[in-house]
Amino acid sequence: MFGWAAIPATLFLCTATASSNSIHLRDQLEHSDSSLFASSNDHISIAITVNRPSFVGPKLLKAVSRASTPSILPITETLNGVTEYSGVIQVGTPPVSYSVLFDTGSFSTWLFGSECKNQYCRANLRYNLTKSSTGKSIGRQIWQSYADGTEFNGTLVQDVVSVGNYSVSDFVFAQVMSFDSPSEARYDGIVGMGFHPTDDSPTLPEVLVANGVLTKPWFSWYIGVDEVNGFIGFGGFDAGLLANPSKELVWISMITDNDLIRAGKIALPMVSVSVGGVVVEKFSSHASPLTTETQGSTGAASWDTGTSAAVVSDVLVRAIGNQIAGAKQVGFTSSDDFTFRVPCNMRREAGGPVLALSFDGGVTLSITALEYILSPDSYDTCYLGLIGRVGGYRNGTYLVGNTFLKRYMNVFDYSQKRIGFGLANGRSSSIADVDVGQGGAAVKSEGYTVSALLSLSVFFSVIMT
Ligand SMILES: *[C@@H]1O[C@H](CO)[C@@H](O)[C@H](O)[C@H]1NC(C)=O
Ligand SMILES: *[C@@H]1O[C@H](CO)[C@@H](O)[C@H](O)[C@H]1NC(C)=O
Ligand SMILES: *[C@@H]1O[C@H](CO)[C@@H](O)[C@H](O)[C@H]1NC(C)=O
Ligand SMILES: *[C@@H]1O[C@H](CO)[C@@H](O)[C@H](O)[C@H]1NC(C)=O
Repeated sequence: MFGWAAIPATLFLCTATASSNSIHLRDQLEHSDSSLFASSNDHISIAITVNRPSFVGPKLLKAVSRASTPSILPITETLNGVTEYSGVIQVGTPPVSYSVLFDTGSFSTWLFGSECKNQYCRANLRYNLTKSSTGKSIGRQIWQSYADGTEFNGTLVQDVVSVGNYSVSDFVFAQVMSFDSPSEARYDGIVGMGFHPTDDSPTLPEVLVANGVLTKPWFSWYIGVDEVNGFIGFGGFDAGLLANPSKELVWISMITDNDLIRAGKIALPMVSVSVGGVVVEKFSSHASPLTTETQGSTGAASWDTGTSAAVVSDVLVRAIGNQIAGAKQVGFTSSDDFTFRVPCNMRREAGGPVLALSFDGGVTLSITALEYILSPDSYDTCYLGLIGRVGGYRNGTYLVGNTFLKRYMNVFDYSQKRIGFGLANGRSSSIADVDVGQGGAAVKSEGYTVSALLSLSVFFSVIMT
């Protein structure tokens, strides 16, 4: 799958009872450019010019001084049981609120445009450039397609984009003019949260970090144990959402390999994977995990807030399925990917073996059956939130979505290129917590307690404005 923005790929589980939870994989793999057009026979005849805009760097901010507190905003699940989350940004003058996905698996931002008339666009709020006094067209067309069949045509625009207490003027994003997808879009757009490739414009967090306005150069991601509500933080996190607010975060350095950065990725260097304490996979290097060529035993976990489940190796999924009583392997349509249907009463912390990922530096992150078993679908059936594929998502690379992220507060540090972890509240440290190992780099958490945000009424009033 490839393209300008994230991937709303939906894989339908192939079961006798037909439809079930859909799994969204929002990983931006390749960037569309002229060479991609040239190599694609299907599109070579299309007379469309794609000029890669040249960007000089982050644009000016309205906010000029560093905020003394982080902006911590609610996110809510877009569809029950899917573990895909949207939050609100404001765009334009006067500002209009849009519900968007914040996606660390991509680096582009887009909104449906008002001129887009098809079902996907009409089902959502659309950005009308002429209604915003600060909106400007850059006059460049974008055509993007995705391996799952999703594609859109759009144009690049610049406008004021605000999140929490931060506003960025002249932020570059795409307004979608036509859109097609095999799955529904339950959001008005996507905000890419990765690192921008050289020729592209910087992502929203990068602009905020570059301008020095964030309290800390951090973006935090937290999903509540109900899996419906969570919080994102710009500039920090709420320590009150940790199982143990006084405990230090544990940090793992991101892979900063060139290919990875070029593709806008945020990934961690995996060295081994174990199930119930038994190692099922080992990796010897983390070089270039993104290219399609065989890379050998490269271990990388793409840490993706825009992906609902996780695509991991066949070996790992089988090792888990085989240890859960009553689990039954089920396939996906049109691929060799598979998962397991499992009894829903196993969806608890002690309901299955602990799944542990170990990283360079000695840190191990574990999740339990409470995280890797999805909540019951509309047929009251439960599945693993893990898709097994030979070798992983890519050979040795796991696409790690919210199945893994929800056990922890995840703190993405854009300056030091590392991710901090602390066990989230509602999850038991005696069953599985971050393990620092020998070389783990624990530092002081420096969390910020925002107790008022815990109130649900605040939540919904923010979402609905
Ligand atoms: C914006 O800043 C004010 C003042 O510091 C603070 O009270 C408020 O919580 C902030 N808003 C968000 C969304 O964090
Ligand atoms: C966009 O806004 C302008 C100005 O209000 C309006 O005339 C136009 O009809 C709107 N376009 C769409 C497609 O809604
Ligand atoms: C995008 O534009 C091309 C060229 O006009 C067209 O072939 C394609 O179907 C369009 N895609 C969508 C989603 O409208
Ligand atoms: C994955 O890497 C291994 C080790 O180099 C190699 O033997 C295997 O063929 C690769 N698999 C794929 C699907 O590329």
